[in-house]
Parts: sequence; C-alpha cells; structure tokens
Amino acid sequence: MTSKAQRDLVELSDLIPEAIRQIIERAKWMRQCNIPLWTTGVRHVGLIFSEPSTRTSLSFVAAAHRLGAEVLELRAEASSLCKGETLLDTAWTLESLGATALVVRDADPDTAPLLAQRCRAGVINGGGGTRSHPSQGLLDALTLIDEFGDLEGKVIGIVGDLLHSRVARSDLVVLRALGAKVVLVAPDRWQDTTLAGAGVELETDLEAVLPHLDAIQLLRIQHERFDPLEGVDPQQYLQQYQLDQRRLEMTKRSLVVLHPGPMNRGVEITSEVADGTRSRIRQQVANGVPMRMALLERAFGEGQG
Ligand code: CP
Repeated sequence: MTSKAQRDLVELSDLIPEAIRQIIERAKWMRQCNIPLWTTGVRHVGLIFSEPSTRTSLSFVAAAHRLGAEVLELRAEASSLCKGETLLDTAWTLESLGATALVVRDADPDTAPLLAQRCRAGVINGGGGTRSHPSQGLLDALTLIDEFGDLEGKVIGIVGDLLHSRVARSDLVVLRALGAKVVLVAPDRWQDTTLAGAGVELETDLEAVLPHLDAIQLLRIQHERFDPLEGVDPQQYLQQYQLDQRRLEMTKRSLVVLHPGPMNRGVEITSEVADGTRSRIRQQVANGVPMRMALLERAFGEGQG
C-alpha cells in the first residue's frame, strides 16, 4: 500500500537520492509507452494553475492522456477563484468531481504543502512561488542524463535571476543528489547566499566560469516577481551575462545549453544559441511528458515504489 507521502511531490528535498533515480528511470520507461497504460477504470487528474503556464500545464495534460486518465483542468481566470473561493476549497471541489491526483501551481509556495496536507489526492507541485518546481528539476536532470549518462562529477552552471527562480532551487536539489557540482552565476543583487553549500559555488563572473562547465541552464528574468531590476542595470546585465555565440565559444565543445522556458530571446540568451546545435531546450520540453507520466503514476499510487 503506497502512503500519501509517497504519492505527493511537494519538494525534491523530501525525496532520497534513490527515489529521485527511480522516478527518472520510470520516466525513461514511460517514453516507450505508445498506448495508454491504464485501460481499465476511470482516473481523473485535476489541474489548478493560478499562475500562467504553457509547458508544465500542457505536458501534464499530455501525460494524463498518454496514461489513460481524464483531465479536469481549471481555468483560473474563469473559475470561482475569481469570486473569492480558496485554492483549498477549489482542490476539494476537484476531488469531489473525481480527481485522485492534483497538480497545483501558485505564487504562494505554501499552497502545494497545504493541499498535500489537507487533500486525499496525490498532490504534485507544478511550481510554487520562488521556492520549488520539482517536476522541472526532474526533467532537467533527465535531459542531462540523456546527454551524459551519469551526472557524477559534472559541472552544471545555472545563470541569471537566481533570487526569484524556483527552477534553480529544484535543479540544485536534484543535481546535487545525482552527484553533480553546481555553479550559480549571477550579479550580486540576484545571488542567494543561502544556497551556497557542499557541491554548490556562487560566482559573479560568467566568462571565468564558462570553460569549466559541462552544461549551462539559463534563467529568465522574473519580471513578475518584486522589482528585480532594482539594483541591476539591464544593459550591463546583457553585456555580462547574456549567452551569445562569442561566449558559447569559450566553453567545452561538449557543453549543452538548457533553458526551462519561457525564454526571453535577446535577453538571457540569443536566438543563435537557443536554436543552435548545442541547445537541448526542445528536448527539455519533450522530456516533460514522460517525466510527468511517471509523476502522475506515482501520485495515483500506481508507481514502481
Ligand atoms: N518551465 C516552465 O515552468 O514553463 P511554463 O511556465 O510554461 O509552465
């Protein structure tokens, strides 16, 4: 019998490295599933996204369909959230309509833990404030494992608006669990010194770091959160941190480029790099489907343990 805690995914730090490896292996297996896995019974996945999303929401929809589950997708802007209903009441409503797995994205990082605590459904955090985006961290790791086979000793740079990035925080957990070293590169204003620790370095000089990296993950400036440009000059940021072709040529020839999306072309990354041969950005998006199939299977308590 799978416990509720084994079905929820709120933070990657709740998982031991072996559990992370098992989910990644299951996602690899899911790629081969070309017919729905579940052909008996009716299963519903509830999606509650109170913040915008393209990749995460649609890949959960695709994953549910590939597994053979129905989707109850809440359109937040047209829902009773607008009339003051709480996210918890909304989640309970979706449960009453049949959802036994829920995916939630919210600006408040405490929403997913609350729903996990108060709902019977398996709850997956689809992105919580600036704190965590576990399914993104797992699909990023899968993309790097596809590239390198094993991440032990690999050096992964995460560059940009670290202060407001839930992706960076989840990447950090999964990459360290898999034995990689992480270099967090940002102007002082966007560094988060609380993230420093074993296997994690904080740097401000991108060009000094580039030759040492095996992969680089660029981050979007989170304009919607606080006033991030306060203290960071946009032109100076581009001059020092944008990944363009000139900087790409300072890296190992085997380096690959990641970006969780959405990209702001011409800001943190040029189109030449984003669409170039070293880019694995589209593979990241594609890996979102098998990874979220594995997570939904787990949320339904039907996973491999
Ligand atoms: N990476 C990511 O979370 O993208 P969306 O906001 O489009 O879901």
